[in-house]
Order: sequence, then structure tokens, then C-alpha cells
Amino acid sequence: MDPILASIIEQVKVDVTTPTQEQDNVNQLEEVSRSFISDTITVPTKEMFAYAMRTSLGDDVYSEPSTIALEAHIAKLTGKEAALFVSSGTMGNQLAIRSHLQQPPNSIICDVRAHINKYEGGGAAIHSGHHLTLKDIEPHVVFGTDVHSAPTRLICLENTLDGTIMPQTDINEIADFAHKNGILMHLDGARLWHVAAETRSPIDELCAPFDSASLCFSKGLGAPVGTCLVGPKAFIQKARWFRKIFGGGMRQTGVLAGSIAYALTHNFALLPKVHALAKHLQAGLDELQVGILSPAETCMVFYDPTTIGVEYWEVTDRAAALPKPITLSGSRLVVHIQTSPDAVDDFLSLIKTLKQEKIQAGIVPSKEGVVDSDGMRNIYVKSKRPSTPTPRT
Ligand SMILES: Cc1ncc(COP(=O)(O)O)c(C=O)c1O
Repeated sequence: MDPILASIIEQVKVDVTTPTQEQDNVNQLEEVSRSFISDTITVPTKEMFAYAMRTSLGDDVYSEPSTIALEAHIAKLTGKEAALFVSSGTMGNQLAIRSHLQQPPNSIICDVRAHINKYEGGGAAIHSGHHLTLKDIEPHVVFGTDVHSAPTRLICLENTLDGTIMPQTDINEIADFAHKNGILMHLDGARLWHVAAETRSPIDELCAPFDSASLCFSKGLGAPVGTCLVGPKAFIQKARWFRKIFGGGMRQTGVLAGSIAYALTHNFALLPKVHALAKHLQAGLDELQVGILSPAETCMVFYDPTTIGVEYWEVTDRAAALPKPITLSGSRLVVHIQTSPDAVDDFLSLIKTLKQEKIQAGIVPSKEGVVDSDGMRNIYVKSKRPSTPTPRT
């Protein structure tokens, strides 16, 4: 072989595995089973990948059989005409917004706490109590042709939102109002699976009030990648176009569709157990008089340890220093399909120990709880150690 080519071939080669990869992966699962930071961290299993290996090998931009089968299944499950496989929840929501909105002027309404607003750069956003109701939304809807305003074209709801379930009666009321006024409805259903499992409601019923919905597979269900956007045929055709323009057209997605099919078939059924574990976690916190910022309706609890005189960073540091460490990030505790029940109990006994230490030290708990600068309760609090003052020179 031409020595220059041979040298380039050598330069191109790479091995991304570690010498101890198999054991590293076992350790990763152990770490994930003791981490409360998110449900996106679950690790794909050998069984999932074994099934995924059996899927088709086509190019999804030109049509890929296993991916088409997944899209058809999700369209049927959600009661919509068509589905589009996309790389992420953000891509699903953003494609929905881009495909629904025609020419400016236009605006959308969503909850101020919604992923679409906080992490995807949204339009008009409002905030109420547990969930948005028609009463919250109505005053913010923009009608008419005043050139100074941007008429409301789309209402985006999120279910679950911070792990809480939006009552279907409120969703139906908002949708009736929206549709009577020519406003479209989109659902960020990244974790709609949890609503179905918890309320025993069929997915198509939950999606019925919406013109489009985005459902993630890589969160509670434990697949490695992927989301499906669903809606009318013409809308999905348009979204497919935008997906390509945004660089989201993927190629051999059969293995991803296979991982997702495995997750739907095997992992959805695990969600009631996940919710029960989250409720057990909350019950333990309640018993210790720890503040609850948002209750465990599904897989998340938001807690406030300052009610027992403990700061988030203290919990995080001590949890990380346990013989079998626990990973935390702040107020949000997420339970997932690979969470170990022992990790929940170890976390609760750590909180109990911290509480006893504070009592012994005569620490008086703060009564204020966590409040935002605008006076609203902020339930997302990051664990941050107070900075040590720089010594005077
Ligand atoms: C409710 C909700 N919607 C959308 C997203 C975005 O999903 P992704 O991270 O796949 O873009 C997230 C991410 O966690 C989410 O929690």
C-alpha cells in the first residue's frame, strides 16, 4: 500500500472504548442507580441492544422500515394521523412550533416553568399555581389586527410539568377555548408516559385535545435517544421538511427505533413502580419535616432541606462522601427505572442524620423556604456551596 495512505489510515483509526469498558459499564449502572439528577441518565441494557440489533438498516431520510414501523405505532397510539421520529424533545417541540406558525406576526402561550420557555427560548409565558387553567390563559391571549401586537397562534402545554400531572378537564377546557378562537394546541409530552401510567388514561385520550404532541423515549422510558412528534399528515410532512433543514435528518435509525420499541414494550410497565418509589421518598421526607416544593405525583419530588436547618450543598457533599455515594444536584430528586430502592433509603437516612446533627448544634431552621426575586416560589434550586470569603491582604 502507498505508505502515505497507510499512514493516513492509521491516523484515522480510533478506539473509543476503555481497556476496562465492560466493568466501567457495570459501574455506570451502579452510579445511575444512586443518582437523583435526572431520568435521562438511564443506561441502555444488553437486552435492549440485542433487540435493536435485529432491526432494519435503511436510511431514514429515504425511508427506513423499522423507523417507519415505530412512527406508525406512535401515530396510532396517540390517535394522530402521522408521526415523525426526531433526535430530541427540543427538536420535537421546536419543529412543532415552526411547523404550526406560518408568517409572522404570531405568538405562543405557555407556562413560565415549561421547557419550551425556560430552555428552548419561548414566547409569551405565564405562571399560575399547580398548573395552567383557562382563567390563567384567557387574559394573555392576543386577538385582533393591531399592528403593535402579535396574535396568539399556539398554546403549548407540558404534561407532566416538573413531574406533576395536569388535569385532563383543564386541558379540555383550554383546548375548547383555543380551537373556538382558531388557536392551535401543542403538547410537550416528554413525560406523558407517566401521566398514562399514573392516571390509567389511554395515550390517545391524553393527546386528543392537542393538534400536535411531542413524546420522548429517552427520559422515563430509558431508550438512549429519540422523540416522536405527532399530528395531522400535512403538519408532519412540513415538520419532516424542517427537520431536514435544521440538520435533523438522520440516517440508519433502525437501531434507535429498535431500542425505543424495546423500551415501550418492557419499560413503560415499570413506571407505576417508579412512581411508588418517588412517593416512598416523599413520605420519608414528610416524616422528617423536610419541606416539599412540588409533590411526587409521578417520578419527581422537589424538596427543601432548609426547613430542618440544612443547606442543599451540605446534602450534596455528604451524599457524595457516603461509602456508596449518591449523586444530587439540588432541589429536584428524580426517580427512574434504574433507581435502587436502597439509594432512596440511604438518602433518607442521610437526611435524618443531618437533621439530628443540626438539632444537636442548636441550628434554627429557616422558615422562609425558597423564594425567587419576583416573589414566586422557585422549585428548581441548584446545590451551591457558599463562596469562601477571600482573606484580606
Ligand atoms: C418536559 C421536557 N420537554 C422537553 C425536553 C427536551 O428534551 P431533550 O433534552 O431531548 O431535547 C426536556 C428535557 O429534559 C423536558 O424535560
